Amino acid sequence: KEIEKGEYKHFMLKEIYEQPKTILDTLRGRLLISDGLICIDGIESNKEIFINAKCITIVACGTSWHSSLIGEYLLEELARIPVKVEYASEFRYRNPIIEEQNIVIVISQSGETADTIAALKLAKKKGAFVFGICNVAGSYIARNVDAGAYTHAGPEIGVASTKSFTSQITVLFLLALKIGKYRSTITNIRYEFLCKELISVPEKMNFTLKIDNNIQKISKLYHHVNNFLYLGRGINFPVSLEGALKLKEISYIHAEGYPAGEMKHGPIALIDENMPVVVIATKKGYYEKIIGNIQEIKARKGKIIAIVNEGDIQASKLADHIIEIPIISEELSPLITIIPLQLLAYQIAYLRGKNVDRPRNLAKSVTVE
Ligand code: G6P
Repeated sequence: KEIEKGEYKHFMLKEIYEQPKTILDTLRGRLLISDGLICIDGIESNKEIFINAKCITIVACGTSWHSSLIGEYLLEELARIPVKVEYASEFRYRNPIIEEQNIVIVISQSGETADTIAALKLAKKKGAFVFGICNVAGSYIARNVDAGAYTHAGPEIGVASTKSFTSQITVLFLLALKIGKYRSTITNIRYEFLCKELISVPEKMNFTLKIDNNIQKISKLYHHVNNFLYLGRGINFPVSLEGALKLKEISYIHAEGYPAGEMKHGPIALIDENMPVVVIATKKGYYEKIIGNIQEIKARKGKIIAIVNEGDIQASKLADHIIEIPIISEELSPLITIIPLQLLAYQIAYLRGKNVDRPRNLAKSVTVE
């Protein structure tokens, strides 16, 4: 079937807007909320391996590497298994330590990325149990792992990955909950609560997509700048990396993502009136710390674009621009906080007249080294 852009100017925009639906596709048949059940065949048929895992290494590239970092937070928090995240291109050229009961998870939208395939082969050679998270059915990685779970996000045409990212996070979240339940590292109450929260994601994504007008206004003010900084903490630190990656990929603006607490060790030197800083300042976790970071940026005349929860007061008072998003549990917040960052990258690239779907020098799937 031919894939059409429909009412959208670009595939990337269409794919951003598709996310409430793709999350449902990722969850279909896997989350039976009435029974409190998460069904993932690849985990169920290898239950003992996951229960006894001593450590998990996740390998990936690009956007998939960012979802791996979110997976690290989720698996450590909910399943209490130590996790290491590696760039596939680094992993394959080292002599990585894979001990017994070490699981390797490979994440790849295409399932064909050369470096990730090489990392998969190395992990298998070293005797690891390899679990794959892929989007493309029948791809090399999907065919060569010991077990796996598809993301079911549908074909992604825009070179800059969007719906794949959120579907990968969704699979990782299901994995972490399921393994956490097996290992009794989460209480039943928390498990049930998080399952319910998960069900609320598509609706909250839909709500968040309505802020596009606000983002267009902000984009008009900043599309001429040369640099952008993105800050987040905890599970939203990888989201800041992904937001910066989106912007640099399609608008060619230099952008860096940073853990907000590290700002004082370098990036703060860059801040002046020409530096917009996107701060993920959602409530919970590190809110007070983030407020401190925002004050530091303001004192240096940086322009603050804050992603805040509805009804926020403190961060909103300090920021130059606010983008309001619905409240959701910390563990699931990346699925919502990434939406404004995807839209911001898109709108800025569009205003700069760039080829959003086919950015220069990049390929959708990098099958050569
Ligand atoms: C390329 C694409 C990125 C993607 C990365 C990894 O660089 O442009 O969007 O994140 O490859 O691809 P994979 O298919 O392995 O997830």
